[in-house]
Amino acid sequence: MFNRVAIIGLGLIGGSLAAAIRAHGLATTIVAGARSERTLERGKLLGLIDDGSTDFAEAVKGADLVFLAVPVSSMADSMAKMAPGLSGTVIITDGGSVKGKVIDAAINCIAEHISRFVPGHPIAGKEKSGVDAADARLYQNHRVILTPTAQTDTQATERVRALWAAVGAEVLTMAPDEHDRVLAETSHLPHLLAFSLVDTLARQGDSLDIFRYAAGGFRDFTRIASSDPLMWHDIFKENRDSVLRAVDLFQQGLAGFRQAIEQGDSDDMLAIMTRANSARAHFLALSARTSYTAALQLNDDRTNAIASDNTAMSNTVSSGHGRRVEFHLQPGGALNGSLRVPGDKSISHRSIMLGALADGITEIEGFLEGEDALATLQAFRDMGVVIEGPSAGRVRVHGVGLHGLKAPSGTLYMGNSGTSMRLLMGLLCGQPFNTELTGDASLSKRPMERVAKPLREMNAAIATTGKGTPPVHISGGQQLKGIHYDLPVASAQVKSAILLAGLYAEGETSVTEPAPTRDHTERMLAGFGYPVSRDGATSKVSGGGKLSACSLEVPADISSAAFFLVGASIAEGSELLLRHVGINPTRTGIIDILKLMGADITLENQRDAGGEPVADIRVKSARLKGITIPEELVPLAIDEFPVLFIAAANAQGDTILHGAEELRVKESDRIQVMADGLTTVGVENEVYADGIRIRGGQYGGGEVYAHGDHRIAMSFAIASLRATAPILIHDCANVATSFPGFAELASAAGLNLSVVED
Ligand code: S3P
Repeated sequence: MFNRVAIIGLGLIGGSLAAAIRAHGLATTIVAGARSERTLERGKLLGLIDDGSTDFAEAVKGADLVFLAVPVSSMADSMAKMAPGLSGTVIITDGGSVKGKVIDAAINCIAEHISRFVPGHPIAGKEKSGVDAADARLYQNHRVILTPTAQTDTQATERVRALWAAVGAEVLTMAPDEHDRVLAETSHLPHLLAFSLVDTLARQGDSLDIFRYAAGGFRDFTRIASSDPLMWHDIFKENRDSVLRAVDLFQQGLAGFRQAIEQGDSDDMLAIMTRANSARAHFLALSARTSYTAALQLNDDRTNAIASDNTAMSNTVSSGHGRRVEFHLQPGGALNGSLRVPGDKSISHRSIMLGALADGITEIEGFLEGEDALATLQAFRDMGVVIEGPSAGRVRVHGVGLHGLKAPSGTLYMGNSGTSMRLLMGLLCGQPFNTELTGDASLSKRPMERVAKPLREMNAAIATTGKGTPPVHISGGQQLKGIHYDLPVASAQVKSAILLAGLYAEGETSVTEPAPTRDHTERMLAGFGYPVSRDGATSKVSGGGKLSACSLEVPADISSAAFFLVGASIAEGSELLLRHVGINPTRTGIIDILKLMGADITLENQRDAGGEPVADIRVKSARLKGITIPEELVPLAIDEFPVLFIAAANAQGDTILHGAEELRVKESDRIQVMADGLTTVGVENEVYADGIRIRGGQYGGGEVYAHGDHRIAMSFAIASLRATAPILIHDCANVATSFPGFAELASAAGLNLSVVED
């Protein structure tokens, strides 16, 4: 890759790059320039370099790459010393942690080489320093930030990028001043605070006592005050302006917090801390490229494990990759016992939305702590709503009123959740501010025009991509007007989005649906005291009302219970009691269909839970028979078809489904993905544009792909109860979107499931 590389400054940073270049065979010859002969001797002895000189001009002679790894305060001096030896084509890069100063030095000292100077900053370090600590793996999976200027030649940047990538680093590019600002805020400021706090307390009269009683929090917070004072002195001096700006910013925040405490303003105090909690989880999720639930866990686990930062360069959070989760199932088994599945997803979303827009504090119990509902919760926190929890299903939402949302500082990320995105589209087009909504790979392919179109008729300003998919841009400040809309597809999400926009519209907004869909929005609006009229297939609201906070109990999700209803039906010797399940008649298609197939299901202890009917459901194994599924039941069981296909695979004869083209635009194309999996395990099926025919009978096992679709993963897990060979299911991480704890609950009931994660 390079012929002759010169490393100026042979400490940890320079020595490690030399070692890595050596290990990967990226240069023919490596030479070093260092101030002491001893360092050069050690470098040779350790096999890091072939040659070296204390004369920097001598060291860089004939080099086609120079890496400057000296402290920022000696960059100018080192550049001036090496300048006479530089060739006319040499590429020069550096590892300094403050870029503005280094670039100034380069302009002054190596002006004729400036187009081939690529400023860089490897974010890596260790507790130990010096050439003896050099480590060929130091940069592996760490970030390197390159900060090319307008004068930097792109080819030179590319060659430096390729070098860092070849030693295993993740290379990012940033403007130099942005780099210095970001580092000031995320690295320099925390170090300054740690030094200052320890110093302030140490100078108190009874400081020894303070330290004697100081608990883990003090130790965690101040660990970085053990860093090298001389080096930090240099950094604070070199990055003076950005550091001062970061201190000012922090002082403002601190003053606000102080005032909240002084005035006993609990709302404000909680707002600051819940925002900080979720911002940290968000940050960990982004840096580990993981999900909210995994990040919340990281938030706890990592509290004590943030890596040392002696060099101002260490990357504090590992840059992992997306979690890979597989389900491994042994065939056979039966499901027995009594269990309660997690809270209803649809109701959990709505409880946050309406709670946030209500006046007063809404108390929620049984909230689903799954990824999708958490995405909704995060979106409202991003819009300034204080939300306590969730903790064991309890959430307290400090409502801000219909007009109290604040503009989020960035894009609202909806993860995998279509419900969050579509319902929020309705809500957000009535706000005074602009918003952008994005989602994960699956959500980014799903149709959003079905919601955008009627909202535009209401005068909303909404843009989707050319394909009608996310990101969705909403321009606020539009006066919405009420409309009547005849839904072309039976969709509760579209209906709900229009009704929610209707809260902000002038006059009446009404929606007529072609077939009944879930009515949680209507029920919950009424529960919050907002008038909703319902006349046959039409629901109607008028703008200008208000929502009053209330207490809500979220029933267990019938869509999650569905896996156990099918599992216990097909596995001989099963009997399960599923407690407190929501049996809203717009959701019970699964029960009706299973009963038509011959299932043994009884509802016990029917009651009302905050406007939603609930029951305990008893299910015993039964011989199922194939049926033609009545089309009017399709919208009432829309999320349950993946597992109903497993019921069909275990029924006698054919089960035929038509009128279900909607399944093709769910989290995956549920007709095709299920058909592929069924074929793999040996179930005969025939795919139609709007449905499928499945022939029941014996089947084996094999490897199936869930395509990131939670319900597909859980359905094939249930299929194992009657398989004759093991089933391995790939891509199951998204089970956490709707059913956190599925594996544990299902295993406790009798499923032979083990989860393999990396
Ligand atoms: C939902 C409605 C349904 C359903 C989704 C949740 C809701 O979608 O599939 O999982 O909470 O309103 P459609 O309304 O698009 O059918």
